[in-house]
Amino acid sequence: MNFHTRKWVKPEDLNPNGTLFGGSLLKWVDEEAAIYAIVQLGNQRVVTKFISEINFVSSARQSDIIELGITATEFGRTSITLRCEVRNKITRKSLLTIERMVFVNLGPDGLPAPHGKSEITYIRDQFKEEDAPLDPAR
Ligand SMILES: CC(C)(COP(=O)(O)OP(=O)(O)OC[C@H]1O[C@@H](n2cnc3c(N)ncnc32)[C@H](O)[C@@H]1OP(=O)(O)O)[C@@H](O)C(=O)NCCC(=O)NCCS
Repeated sequence: MNFHTRKWVKPEDLNPNGTLFGGSLLKWVDEEAAIYAIVQLGNQRVVTKFISEINFVSSARQSDIIELGITATEFGRTSITLRCEVRNKITRKSLLTIERMVFVNLGPDGLPAPHGKSEITYIRDQFKEEDAPLDPAR
């Protein structure tokens, strides 16, 4: 699982209990997962179709640094299924898990369209060597 995005828990993200508000966390998770699906499917037109049980495993507090991890678990014909975990960046304590988030690939008509993908691709494999950003060490 790749943990790409880090978030810094700020006062505006808190619930009345003084811990991270679930709605804020879910917004971050949905956006992170959508970006993952867009990159994997190579199409900006993807929508969230289904989210399975959400387990808020433990709380985050103001000033915590958290990180969002996503991995693809299944490639369907028009859909992609992702697994998500959010954890504390420093302690690695788990904050949230979602076993299944399903995104659907849409065509220009807004209807489900086959994406033709069957496995995870990595950014480094999506560019040819000459297109890759220059290595500053070179
Ligand atoms: C996404 C949408 C176009 C799919 O329409 P649909 O009639 O369900 O389409 P289909 O029946 O052809 O299913 C499309 C894919 O979703 C999957 N799917 C449908 N219902 C599902 C469910 N309840 N759980 C998991 N996957 C589901 C299907 O298996 C199919 O995947 P596959 O092609 O890989 O097998 C439609 O449901 C929709 O517009 N929903 C609203 C999306 C939205 O606004 N999201 C929030 C904002 S991003």
